[in-house]
Amino acid sequence: MTTAHSAPLTAQLNDREMPAWWRQAVVYQVYPRSFEDADGDGIGDIRGVTSRVPYLKELGIDAVWLSPFYPSALADGGYDVADYRNVDPRLGTLDDFDEMLGALHAAGIRVIVDIVPNHTSDQHAWFQEALTAGRGSAARARYIFRDGTGPDGSEPPADWVSVFGGSAWQRVDDGQWYFHNFAVEQPDLDWSNPEVRADFVKTLRFWSDRGVDGFRIDVAHMLTKDFVDPLPSQAELDAMPRDGNHPMIDRDDVHEVYAEWRAVFDSYDPPRTAVAEAWVEPSRIPLYARAESLGQAFNFDLLEADFDARQFRRIVGDNLELAGTSGSSTTWVLSNHDVVRHATRYGLPDAERDSAGRPTRKHGNEWLLSGGTRPALDAERGSRRARAAALFVLALPGSAYIYQGEELGLHEVAAIPEADRQDPTFFRSPGEDIGRDGCRVPLPWSEDGPSFGFGTGGAHLPQPGWFADYAVSAQHDDSTSSLALYRAALAMRRLLQTDESLTWVETGHDDVLAFRRSNGWTVFTNFGTEPFELPDGPPISLSSRHRDERILPGETTVWIAGA
Ligand code: NOJ
Repeated sequence: MTTAHSAPLTAQLNDREMPAWWRQAVVYQVYPRSFEDADGDGIGDIRGVTSRVPYLKELGIDAVWLSPFYPSALADGGYDVADYRNVDPRLGTLDDFDEMLGALHAAGIRVIVDIVPNHTSDQHAWFQEALTAGRGSAARARYIFRDGTGPDGSEPPADWVSVFGGSAWQRVDDGQWYFHNFAVEQPDLDWSNPEVRADFVKTLRFWSDRGVDGFRIDVAHMLTKDFVDPLPSQAELDAMPRDGNHPMIDRDDVHEVYAEWRAVFDSYDPPRTAVAEAWVEPSRIPLYARAESLGQAFNFDLLEADFDARQFRRIVGDNLELAGTSGSSTTWVLSNHDVVRHATRYGLPDAERDSAGRPTRKHGNEWLLSGGTRPALDAERGSRRARAAALFVLALPGSAYIYQGEELGLHEVAAIPEADRQDPTFFRSPGEDIGRDGCRVPLPWSEDGPSFGFGTGGAHLPQPGWFADYAVSAQHDDSTSSLALYRAALAMRRLLQTDESLTWVETGHDDVLAFRRSNGWTVFTNFGTEPFELPDGPPISLSSRHRDERILPGETTVWIAGA
């Protein structure tokens, strides 16, 4: 018995380019400060990315997404942007950027840059002006300033808690308060202000004119706000439905902003693409993914899932259906710069879940807080499952995102001394959240040498000794390595991209998922531990475990070419 999931044919076509390049692209996320350090100052840079273009080309990706490389005080790893139309001098210059773009394009790799529109850095010229210009000024009207409460205004305007912990309001010298959803150094912009809107259009054009192919939109669901006095309490905010009218989350009017951006994207040939980072109710994802809005939205469901057949099947079905609703393609993400790397997640006990199936604690946080000792990590099992999950995901219709180092099978780094930690979530929630530094440790390129080939000036986050085993040089010529598996999968994946449908093949085993793509290829994943006998048929083309007999071992994926 088979079940088909397919996006409508019309949704698969695009007037200007058929099919649009991004629909089934493999996008590699570069976290520039931790990728490759060409100038030896301990921080990865733009020329470092350029120097690794041959590596990226050999890997077989279609596009690179660069996390922020803009001038920044690094209060939030670069997501605190001080100047949206420049390169951080520690990372290079605009000329370096152009050179990198040219080198990536020459290698056939597109480039997506990160746009952070919800907030600026407190070092941004606008915020500095807002501080000096004082209350009631036009400069303050670009942000969200309010008088405090209490007899002398010394209490925040509301008891709201920021995403990184602590109050979401910060007092300035003249006594007013400003709103910051994230770190104190990330004041939120006021998107009802036409000047703010116009400036971001300018930024989108600035990078589009330089030749970038698309944008990843940070916190796309929070830009517009409706803060009416008296402000509600945090408890009241939490209880409000997220139906498009919530005072700050996923408001319908945010799409007015994106309609304007869409006109900008479509004024280029080919149209610039955009993908929304929008943590919203699943039913509202298509609003961001529609062609009239940003055009694509991240599906983060696998970041929260265990290595579990039922969860994976539900997630695939739900997201292909949502993609069908919006006319976009979905995006598969196993890891990124905000979560514990999946090789590690899969080696830890399954997450505890609430009745809605949501993880009740941050996956892996407990392990990190104990410095990597409790609960015990089964690293080998995590690696095995990570390879199986990657092959499963890379065979799905839609685009796939690879986070730098995932192709090496890298694990999270738990043991980072407190003095070296950088992530504001660690500082703002002491003892509760260790933060995201463990997935942002600079990449190991060679088994030895200073900072494992990252650069001559050391690494800005300490690399553990075991990084040597995961280095590119250790894996490059080993056909059984994780790197070799990713290279083989990305090369073969091109054969699968005939259309955006899949058909489930029932295996009769709860732990074994199988699906067929329209080119006739079938993918089997054994999420359990008991071996599964594969049906007779063509030989195995690719296996996450490098065995080609007809018995599919536990925690393994195979691709079988069409007869
Ligand atoms: C989402 C980004 O992925 C994360 O790294 C950042 O801290 C927040 N947005 C705030 O910009």
